[in-house]
Amino acid sequence: MKKILIAILSLLLAFDAMADEGMWLPVLINQRIKDMRAKGFKLKAEDVYSVNKACLKDAVVLFGSGCTGELVSADGLLFTNHHCGYGQIQRHSSVEHDYLKDGFWALNRSQELPNPGLTVSFLEYMKDVTDDVLMGYEPSMTEAQRDSVIRTNSHTLVAEAVKEGKGLRANVEALFYGNQYFLFVFRTFRDVRLVGAPPSSIGKFGGDTDNWMWPRHTGDFSIFRIYADKDNNPADYSEGNVPYHPKKFFTISRKGVKEGDFTFVYGCPGNTKEYVTSDEVEYTGNVSDPRKIALRTKRLDIMKKYMGMSQAVRIQYSSKAASVSNAWKKWQGEEKGIRRMHTVANKKAYQERFKEWAKGKRYDGLVEKLEALYSKRNPYYLAYEYYTETARSIELLGLASSVKRVIKNKKAKDATVEAFFKDYYQPIDEEIFVAMMKAFDSEMQDEFKPQFFKDKLKEYGSIEAWKKDLYAKSMFTSKEKLLSLTADDAKAVDEDPAYRLYEDFYNWYYNELRPQINDVNSDIRLAYRDYMQGQMEFEPQKQFYPDANLTLRIAYGNVKGYSPFDGAYYKPVSTLKGIIEKDNPDIFDYNIPQTLRDIYAEGGHDSQPVCFLATNHTTGGNSGSPVINADGNLIGINFDRVWEGTMSDIVYDPSVCRNISLDIRYLLFNIEYIGHASYLFDEMEFAD
Ligand code: ARG
Ligand code: GLU
Repeated sequence: MKKILIAILSLLLAFDAMADEGMWLPVLINQRIKDMRAKGFKLKAEDVYSVNKACLKDAVVLFGSGCTGELVSADGLLFTNHHCGYGQIQRHSSVEHDYLKDGFWALNRSQELPNPGLTVSFLEYMKDVTDDVLMGYEPSMTEAQRDSVIRTNSHTLVAEAVKEGKGLRANVEALFYGNQYFLFVFRTFRDVRLVGAPPSSIGKFGGDTDNWMWPRHTGDFSIFRIYADKDNNPADYSEGNVPYHPKKFFTISRKGVKEGDFTFVYGCPGNTKEYVTSDEVEYTGNVSDPRKIALRTKRLDIMKKYMGMSQAVRIQYSSKAASVSNAWKKWQGEEKGIRRMHTVANKKAYQERFKEWAKGKRYDGLVEKLEALYSKRNPYYLAYEYYTETARSIELLGLASSVKRVIKNKKAKDATVEAFFKDYYQPIDEEIFVAMMKAFDSEMQDEFKPQFFKDKLKEYGSIEAWKKDLYAKSMFTSKEKLLSLTADDAKAVDEDPAYRLYEDFYNWYYNELRPQINDVNSDIRLAYRDYMQGQMEFEPQKQFYPDANLTLRIAYGNVKGYSPFDGAYYKPVSTLKGIIEKDNPDIFDYNIPQTLRDIYAEGGHDSQPVCFLATNHTTGGNSGSPVINADGNLIGINFDRVWEGTMSDIVYDPSVCRNISLDIRYLLFNIEYIGHASYLFDEMEFAD
């Protein structure tokens, strides 16, 4: 009896765990819509995804190569995150008009700024093409033959799908490790202009201090507009282009959110691995994350030390430090989360049950096989991770390789050199060199250390002496020398000690690590194809969603706070009052614009909402995604997760996994009070 009860209870728990977990394929919305409606959603399946009529999917785009954006007007107006438009805003900035610092607002359409290279892609449709992709495949074929069949068939499918031209592009993606294949057909627009962005002190408020954290008060948005040719088709930038008229755009709700409200995120999550074995999780949580965190702590400490000593260095390194610290902080949450969830032990227990079930089936021995493959791969993979986190983090070596690449093109070479030295502070680089090479020396297994590295240590006796000689002799520390280089100096570049070292490391990776890793990885992928199918047969009642791969997905849940640690509860909504509480002119991350102080002082804005938490299952790539309410209206823009929940790329915990969204009303507040660009409201549609 007790056993039965426990079984029923764990079944119930399993269902509960699935409550908000999942990144679902929109084309299969019919399988989810009942559950979504039970949780409060009021629209029908075809309002979310349809190929025959305009629906919400037609208002969502892949923004650039790794973010999401949403359409909010009949004239192609688009919202995304500030950190997604950051590169564009930065490129338009100069000393005379620093849009990063002061914000940018076009006061009419002629002031909108073009962004060469920036694209947005609408999903036209997605389709299960598994049968077409595998046409001609026989089980007796080798893997190489299978790959070749898949490649040929995919090529045909893609060619057929894009033959109309007009900005169409398509790709075939393997889902569930190659158990299913889907065709994705996009229409890509190439003229996307900057319309507005808040000052960084609003758009990046809280900076790295608050990144991945709650309570959050970041106004993380930027505004763009898509342009098309006269027939509404994609076109290269031209002054004659006109605003694009989308099939669909979001209506905005100003009603606001409260705990428990239904939320739905429609966007392009990048990368998850929910169905891996305990070996992969163990490697991530016990080896990879802690080691990479420790290496990055060293680098960040060095950067911060010098940034604290000089305002100029702080400006030079703030963006570099931000990118180092973003993953650094995420991994800390992931590592802790994996441990807290006992994911390794739980996966092991699951695998034991799986193994029992698999006996005599074609899945027999798979778990063991994966275990063997991981033990073969891990030492090589760890060496590769050390390579990327140590040798590749030395700026001097990076410059040497960039200059080498463009040495024949004087203009490109000079631009590379100028850009590099604008943000280079050699004492930081030298100290990082020493710290990283020391870590490489003391932490890498001896048999994995490359010969040239051992030789260098012998030659110099110490890493400090090696560093001294390298930075004294290399031409890459001198901007003047590099600017005077011509195409004829290619040989001198080749012989420079910094370039030599770059190449030695690269060749070691390329010849000794990469082939081994690729070999094992292809076996691992193959084993996962079976293991994935095995898991689906083993748990026929479970609803599986494919791992994220930057294709359009649906995640739904509800507005909800959480308890980050014992004795505390985080409410799900933050307000302008909190910004004023954090405001501090002496702390860069918390120094708000004076106008915001003045507006607040006038009164009446105490309860102005800024951000909110919800339980949607999201990941990197979901930045900029529309957050939609039960009526299908836009209530926010997704931009982050809380760090306690970042293990959701591997295992989702409904009690702490929360996505962080900008409340759309704070965006509207900024348009009105900070940008004085209320004319933009005229083209938006408001539900309430
Ligand atoms: N954590 C968010 C993401 O993964 C935001 C990153 C940008 N913000 C920052 N302070 N570094 O992309
Ligand atoms: N900021 C992340 C992005 O750029 C989203 C945060 C996450 O969920 O990983 O997509």
